[in-house]
Amino acid sequence: MRKPVLKAVFPVAGLGTRFLPATKAIPKEMLPLVDKPLLQHAVDEARAAGIEEFVFVTGGGKRAIEDHFDADAELNRFLELKHNTEGLDAVRQTEIAPGKLFYTRQQQPLGLGHAVWCARAVVGSDPFAIILPDDYVLSQTPCLKQMVEAYQEVGGNIVAVENVPREHTNRYGILKIGSDDGRLVTVEGLVEKPAPAEAPSTLSIIGRYILQPEVMDHLSRHERGTGNEIQLTDAMARLVGQQPFHGLHFEGTRFDCGGKVGFLEATIAHALTRPDMADNVRRVLKKYSS
Ligand code: G1P
Repeated sequence: MRKPVLKAVFPVAGLGTRFLPATKAIPKEMLPLVDKPLLQHAVDEARAAGIEEFVFVTGGGKRAIEDHFDADAELNRFLELKHNTEGLDAVRQTEIAPGKLFYTRQQQPLGLGHAVWCARAVVGSDPFAIILPDDYVLSQTPCLKQMVEAYQEVGGNIVAVENVPREHTNRYGILKIGSDDGRLVTVEGLVEKPAPAEAPSTLSIIGRYILQPEVMDHLSRHERGTGNEIQLTDAMARLVGQQPFHGLHFEGTRFDCGGKVGFLEATIAHALTRPDMADNVRRVLKKYSS
């Protein structure tokens, strides 16, 4: 029997310098798409995929994250008193049940692989998901749920993938492809941020992973890769050939919220899916489109 994926790791230790001064006192993962922080979008996606235990890899200056996912008895009481059920529903959704949320600190910015390795004690010997909250995915079925469904079929390791222009391969982890049936790709190799001329394909990894715990053994070696960082892609590459490894062409659109324009585009795209505001947003967009 395949072990279910019940744990998810959220690397949220980055300094968010691209969004200064907004991120001076607020973690970048707390910047909202309309009224919900990026990190909560990620947590909601994980919940929709059946995740029950959440691991946040944080750094200094991230206390707002702890407060956000905690229960705020005083606020709840106030909203109850005011019969503000909408507000109450919204804050209740932020709460993660006691004992189901774990924090660990990445004390040095040594790379994504190192951040994930910081979660090893909670991951233990179980398969686990990773969500990078900077990558926001709009889709019919939540992206991680699509991956869990694929995992139930093929097991092993799965990364969500999309094609990028060849001149952008140096921004992503890139797959060396075996077969590709249009939905699932068999992975023969992985390279972190290859130059366009050296990239084995243009299929890039987006910030969604389902991995087997053995990846932690490889991360434990603390080998440096691209940018002198401990790369998750390098540790995953060592699993190729040892365990099943697939890429999933997910259904949906990925937005890179790590940059300002991408963040703005995600905000607009998200707003346009919301029945409470889509018409008004469309009107505003029209006003500025001439
Ligand atoms: C990280 C990973 C990269 C992946 C990307 C997805 O890169 O290292 O393999 O393609 O996330 O967003 P970063 O964006 O942290 O440079």
